[in-house]
Amino acid sequence: MAEAVRVGLIGGGLMGREAAAAIARWPALEDHPVRPVLAGVCDTEPERLAWFERIDTAALLTADHRELLAAEEIDVVYIAVPHHLHERLYLDAAAAGKDFLAEKPFGIDLAAGQRIIAAIERAGVFVRCSSEMPFFPGAQLAINEIRSGALGRPIEAQASFLHSSDIDPRKPINWKRQTRYCGELGVMGDLGVHALHVPLRLGWRPRTVYAATQDIVPERPGADGRTVPCDTIDNATLIAAVEHEHGDFPLTVETKRIAPGEANTWVLRAVGMNGGVEFSTRAPKTVRRFVLEDGRQAWQELQVGSQSVFPTVTGAIFEFGFADAILQMWAAFLAERAGALGDRFGCLTPREALDAHRLFAAALRSSRSGRAEPTVGTVQAADSP
Ligand SMILES: NC(=O)c1ccc[n+]([C@@H]2O[C@H](COP(=O)([O-])OP(=O)(O)OC[C@H]3O[C@@H](n4cnc5c(N)ncnc54)[C@H](O)[C@@H]3O)[C@@H](O)[C@H]2O)c1
Repeated sequence: MAEAVRVGLIGGGLMGREAAAAIARWPALEDHPVRPVLAGVCDTEPERLAWFERIDTAALLTADHRELLAAEEIDVVYIAVPHHLHERLYLDAAAAGKDFLAEKPFGIDLAAGQRIIAAIERAGVFVRCSSEMPFFPGAQLAINEIRSGALGRPIEAQASFLHSSDIDPRKPINWKRQTRYCGELGVMGDLGVHALHVPLRLGWRPRTVYAATQDIVPERPGADGRTVPCDTIDNATLIAAVEHEHGDFPLTVETKRIAPGEANTWVLRAVGMNGGVEFSTRAPKTVRRFVLEDGRQAWQELQVGSQSVFPTVTGAIFEFGFADAILQMWAAFLAERAGALGDRFGCLTPREALDAHRLFAAALRSSRSGRAEPTVGTVQAADSP
C-alpha cells in the first residue's frame, strides 16, 4: 500500500495550479510508493485561492503561509512564489520543520541561495528544487547516451531554454520582468536552472564563463496602461569552459525570452569524437544521434514514446508533454523523500541550485567586465548524486 503524503501549496498561481493538476493525475503512475493528497493551499490573492475550491481534499485554504506551515495535517510543501519571496518563505518552511519542493532560482541571488542552504541543512529538512524538462523521455535518452561514454572525448555541448512571447512590446509587464521581484539575474533566474540541471547532474563544472546579456525591451505597458520600466535581462548567452578528464570543452547555455519562433524550447546537445546526441522539445518525440560507422558520419533519428523515469498507464507509443514532465518530477521528488528513488534520475538538489547561482553570478560579472570570469567555488557537488 502506497504511503499517503499530505501536500500543501504556497503560491496558487501558474505553477501552484500545475502541481494541483499533477497530484490529481497521480493514478496515471504505476506502482509509485507514495500517494500524495492535496490537503491545503495558501495564496494572498482571494481569487487565486478560490480556484482550489474545486479540489475536495484541499480543506485548508489560507492567505497566511505561517498558518499552512504550522498545520499538522500538512507533511510536505511546494513553494511557488515570486523570487523576492523565496528566501523568507523557504526559511519559514525550514524553521517549521517541513520538507519542501522549492522553485527556481532558489533565492533571488547567490547570497540568498547560500542563506537558504544553511537554514535547510541546519533544520535537516528534505528539499529539492523544481526542474521538470529533463524528465522528457528524449532528454532521458540523451542523458543516458552521454553517461554511457559513447560520445568519446567531448568536443562541445549546448543547453538552452528559449521563449519568444516577449517579442511583442505590447505584452503587459509582470513581476518576472522587474528586477525588484525577479532579481538581477533576469532571464537567467527564470530559465537558467532548467538549462543547467542536466549539465550539473552530468558533473560538468564550468571553470570560467563569458556572458553576453541584453535588455532588448526596456519598457512595457503597466496595469493602468501607462508605460513602466522593464529592467530585467531578456536574453543571456553564456559560454562556459567545462573541465573534463579528456580536455576542457565549451558549454553554451542560452536563456532567452526573445528567441524568435521558440515557445518553451528546451535543448540539450552534446557531441564528441565518437558520437553525439541532440534533443529539443521542438520535436518532443525525436532524439537525434550522431554515429561514426566504417568512416561514415551520420545523424540518426530515434522516435521515443511516452515512458520516462516512472512507468505510467499511458501507451508506450503515445506522446509526452509538459504536464507529464511535471508529474514525473513530482514522482521523483516524493520517491526520493521516501527513500525509494533508487538509481532513477532525481530532482535538482539544493547544492546544484547553488552551483547554478555561482555560474549566474560569474555571468553577471562577465557581462559587466566584458571578459570571461572564473566561477569561483563552483566545484562543490558534495550532495549531488
Ligand atoms: N518549473 C517551471 O517550469 C516554472 C514555470 C514558471 C514559473 N516557475 C517558478 O515558480 C515560481 C512562481 O512562478 P509562477 O509562474 O507560478 O508565478 P505566479 O505569479 O503565476 O504565481 C505566484 C503566486 O504566488 C502568490 N503569492 C505572492 N505572495 C505570496 C505569499 N506571501 N504567500 C502566498 N502566496 C503568495 C501570488 O498571489 C500568485 O498567485 C517562481 O519561482 C518561478 O520562477 C517555474
